[in-house]
Amino acid sequence: MQRKLIIGNWKMNGTLAKNEALLKKLTDGVTGMSGMDCAVCVPFPYLAQTQALLRGTSIKYGAQNVHQAEKGAYTGEVSVHMLRDFGCNYVIVGHSERRTLSGESSGLVAEKYASVQKAGLTPILCVGETLEQREANMTETVVGEQLAEVIKVRGVQSFRTAVIAYEPVWAIGTGRTASPEQAQEVHAFIRKKIAGFDEDFGHALCILYGGSVNASNAAELFAMPDINGGLIGGASLVAEDFLAICRAGTS
Ligand code: PGA
Repeated sequence: MQRKLIIGNWKMNGTLAKNEALLKKLTDGVTGMSGMDCAVCVPFPYLAQTQALLRGTSIKYGAQNVHQAEKGAYTGEVSVHMLRDFGCNYVIVGHSERRTLSGESSGLVAEKYASVQKAGLTPILCVGETLEQREANMTETVVGEQLAEVIKVRGVQSFRTAVIAYEPVWAIGTGRTASPEQAQEVHAFIRKKIAGFDEDFGHALCILYGGSVNASNAAELFAMPDINGGLIGGASLVAEDFLAICRAGTS
């Protein structure tokens, strides 16, 4: 069985003081947990602090977005080389909040995914449907199209060095989690779409679930055969909750 991967997505939250307290509790709490990997994706300005506080620990870290170009006249943007300078392992691309609030298309997300991989970092590609799309039975079509753009740009084998996060938009920050069965169904679809009948490839794929995961529902979600861990928003800001979720991922 693949080790579970639990990643916190802090979104636009934190202060130097709060981060320090949170990261100290996480490093203390994660020590001694086995069979699980854990990471936090923090706002850009806190990467240096995160790098300093997580040095020598087992917790990895990353960013929540990146610009697709290597460098140049892109005022206000951050390149993947800058993220690498700060020791990032992961970069979230295509989070639904960026697709919706910043108008990021699947094509742009695929370019970002490519630039992250080319720099040797691991993209966390978020996919997921809205409530309207789910109710219209469009979940597989929507998720399939989001994946197809990346496959077109980077090829299906690129998922060997990527993480996929299935995050139904209707479950993000709403307190309304997908049931383990609903999530499992989409995870199985994603695994089959990418790996087809190549069993080794299928086993190696890392597909996280995200959307209102908390300390009390994590274990039943992680028990599903195609759920390899979680991308955690709100609950990743509270050390006790995030650690309880990490514990649910231990084997
Ligand atoms: P949530 O966010 O856990 O607060 O629902 C998940 C995410 O957006 O990654």
